Amino acid sequence: MLTNKTIVLGITGGIAAYKAVDIASKLTQAGANVRVIMTKSALEFITPLTFESITGNAVVTDMFQTNAEHRINHVALSEIADVIVIAPATANIIARIACGMADDMLACTVLATKAPVIISPSMHTNMYENSITQENIAKLKERGFTIIEPSAGRLASGGYGIGRLPDTEVIIGAIQQTLGKSGNLKGKRIVVTAGGTQEDIDPVRYIGNRSSGKMGYAIAEAARDRGANVTLITTPTALAIPEGIKTVTVRSALQMKDVVVKATAKADVLLMAAAVADYTPKTTAKQKIKKGAGGLTLELVKTPDIISEVKGKFLKIGFAAETQNLLANAKKKLASKGLDMIVANDVTSKGSGFGTDTNKVTLISKDGKQESLPLMSKREVAEKLMDRVGKMIGKKR
Ligand SMILES: Cc1cc2nc3c(=O)[nH]c(=O)nc-3n(C[C@H](O)[C@H](O)[C@H](O)COP(=O)(O)O)c2cc1C
Repeated sequence: MLTNKTIVLGITGGIAAYKAVDIASKLTQAGANVRVIMTKSALEFITPLTFESITGNAVVTDMFQTNAEHRINHVALSEIADVIVIAPATANIIARIACGMADDMLACTVLATKAPVIISPSMHTNMYENSITQENIAKLKERGFTIIEPSAGRLASGGYGIGRLPDTEVIIGAIQQTLGKSGNLKGKRIVVTAGGTQEDIDPVRYIGNRSSGKMGYAIAEAARDRGANVTLITTPTALAIPEGIKTVTVRSALQMKDVVVKATAKADVLLMAAAVADYTPKTTAKQKIKKGAGGLTLELVKTPDIISEVKGKFLKIGFAAETQNLLANAKKKLASKGLDMIVANDVTSKGSGFGTDTNKVTLISKDGKQESLPLMSKREVAEKLMDRVGKMIGKKR
């Protein structure tokens, strides 16, 4: 996805400038050609040598450098960029860009480019909330710049509030989404469920399962990075909420069903990667159940079968997490639930199933076509799935 993409990374004079090292490193590791531009103020926080070592490219810091070995034309990077990302972006650079200034190499590159520009503001809360900064941000949004909302938390300048640079994954997610805007799922509405449902026994306990949500999140991100409009319906997981994806958090199977019904009203595809409980306690105790002398018997009732019950013209793709007779069970599920495709997943095989970063699956379509994929990362599985979804959408319409 990022391989051979030229990403111009602008770094400005904010305290979070050191975090740009991680961004440059991860982008480079992902195969991108990272070209760093630093403002004069950024040089007060971190040295170009770090970025040159990480990216393998010269860092540009001065528009008027004449006899330097790294001298480049003032608009050269604006022309070769697939995307420009400024992280961290100070209040100052945001104001300069909003005014159309071109008073240093970074501002000049942004003004000259036809590539998409992503800005990740990072500053003290008061600077961020100042109406001047907010007006500048609104102006940039209006002009098509992508603005990544800063996160809240402890600020280096003291106190707590909004203004922190978000995690590297969020910034890279925004870059991937931007680069993938005209992918094979452009404009398609894809609903993905992820995680394991939680069926309450009492106010402190629930019946859950071992699903980590990793497969569903990988699918949601892969779809986003091909231009889809993604809604992720997730149970609480340990994973970060992905950038650029509408996310709704639910707990029980019943809650998930209600949200899936609403979200699929205009969907093109529903992908049910969540592990949904088949049974739920008949009643939920209002108070915590105390430990008694004997055992405890819970009466369970069936939960709704979400994928069979939601109606519509969209593609339905289910998952079968099995521990035995994988393919036979998956095919049965495919037919009985009226699915277009099922992803059969042997959760007992090594490196596959719950919690792992890899998965080994077989894709079975309703026409009987069966493709067994080797063990691969969940993101790679998601990409294979999205290749198939792209082709299937064409046929369904
Ligand atoms: C220690 C220190 C930390 C700073 N941190 C920030 C910051 O996080 N965000 C910000 O907008 N400005 C911050 N500033 C102010 C900017 O460095 C200043 O506005 C500068 O002119 C920005 O220039 P640039 O946008 O060209 O990089 C900080 C200044 C100092 C001295």
